[in-house]
Amino acid sequence: MRGIRKAFGAVTAVDGVDLELRGGEIQALVGENGAGKSTLAAIAFGALRPDAGTVERRGTVGLVHQHFELIERMRVWENIVIGREPRRGVRIDTDAAKRAVRELAARNGLDVDPDAIVESLPVAMKQRVELLRELERRPAVLLLDEPTAALAPAEVAAFFATIVALARAGTAVLVVTHKLQEVLDYADTVSVMRRGKIVAHFASRGVALDEIARTMVGGELPKVAARASTAPVPRVRVAHLRAESGDNAVRDVSFEVRGGEIVAVAGVEGNGQTSLADALAGVLPYEGSIEGADARGVIPQDRLREGLVPSWSVTENVALGRQHARARRGALLDRRGVLQAARAIVERYDVRAPSVDARVATLSGGNQQKLVVGRALLDDPAFVVAYQPTRGIDVGAAALVQSRLMEARNAGAAVLLISFDLDEVFALADRILVLYRGRIAGTFAREDADRAKIGRLMAGGT
Ligand SMILES: Nc1ncnc2c1ncn2[C@@H]1O[C@H](COP(=O)(O)OP(=O)(O)OP(=O)(O)O)[C@@H](O)[C@H]1O
Ligand SMILES: [Mg+2]
Repeated sequence: MRGIRKAFGAVTAVDGVDLELRGGEIQALVGENGAGKSTLAAIAFGALRPDAGTVERRGTVGLVHQHFELIERMRVWENIVIGREPRRGVRIDTDAAKRAVRELAARNGLDVDPDAIVESLPVAMKQRVELLRELERRPAVLLLDEPTAALAPAEVAAFFATIVALARAGTAVLVVTHKLQEVLDYADTVSVMRRGKIVAHFASRGVALDEIARTMVGGELPKVAARASTAPVPRVRVAHLRAESGDNAVRDVSFEVRGGEIVAVAGVEGNGQTSLADALAGVLPYEGSIEGADARGVIPQDRLREGLVPSWSVTENVALGRQHARARRGALLDRRGVLQAARAIVERYDVRAPSVDARVATLSGGNQQKLVVGRALLDDPAFVVAYQPTRGIDVGAAALVQSRLMEARNAGAAVLLISFDLDEVFALADRILVLYRGRIAGTFAREDADRAKIGRLMAGGT
């Protein structure tokens, strides 16, 4: 790619970029939310036409999208083999297709159920389907836009083993990621993007994580807000909760979240997190009892499907879900209040949008996430349910989001954090619950939380 430039209205997303991907090499592309990474990947793929510059491609190109492009009403196997279905005569050979998908999944360490309807799947499962669809096609150039944002750590290793093998066999790979450790572990080279430009390019061997982070944000990283001492008070009580959404049930779960503490649910995705979060958010019927969860702010699992209406503006999305007293004047929506709220979120969470009138679909993924987090915490809710709150957020903004959660806790909120990222769990939690197969396998206070033991419990050990 040479001299690539792309503007959307007044926003220059890509501002004169040269980029070369070579067969046999994994190149990482990192940068702040809104730096232009997804735009550049879409141009490399050919889905977007640049305003200036040239793209030369040798061989086929595959793109794993940051926001999955799956056909929701179709089954997993149909999504993966679409356009190249095995046939017997004129009919699709369903058995052969499913067998191929099972083999592909097993080979790549990405567990999927070929028969599941995509629509009903949790985000991590959709991520696997999106990845498998591209892996199946074996393109000469493979572009991966945050391929591991929703994967568990064990899967990340298995996934990259595949990617490294593909690269060694001659594929050119570009990986957009916010997980800088992945850059050090797997990439050969790394390009750093800031405000539409590539500001650094180096070999990843011998580079320190801090140095990449500093180059990305153009300065020092913000620190996470300190944990204040609080006197926790009873707030949310969950007793004998049973709920089920899809394959992901909670079975007889009891716990408390007190005001002034962060309780983290640690676990491997698929052990009941979705059902737990949905029951607490009030969108899934349940048995048992949930007390004290009414004044809640929710950061949902899937920002685009559950959190936002992409075709609406930032302001309209801030009003969404707050059509209750605070956002009203009599029977009408308090437009001025909502506008002020939108501006406050944009400022406090550093949401990069041209204006609060911009459609949410035009924001970068990380900026959409910051908006969802900001809205959830806006009214100082007494109870916060935060599902992977920093998914897709750059390292600087992640510290900001974690700070806001810590501040909410310091101010007396009860915070339930659901995260697959043990680093995040350990950074934030006062107490840790380990969820395994829909039950709580262990509870730890921050002081005596043992990482190895928690890891074992997460895997079903003792
Ligand atoms: N279709 C669009 N219309 C208007 N603006 C857009 C559109 N797509 C992207 N932008 C803007 O272009 C800039 C770059 O966005 P892009 O999605 O490429 O960022 P990114 O580096 O992938 O960020 P993230 O890490 O958050 O995913 C942002 O300011 C974004 O708001
Ligand atoms: Mg992006």
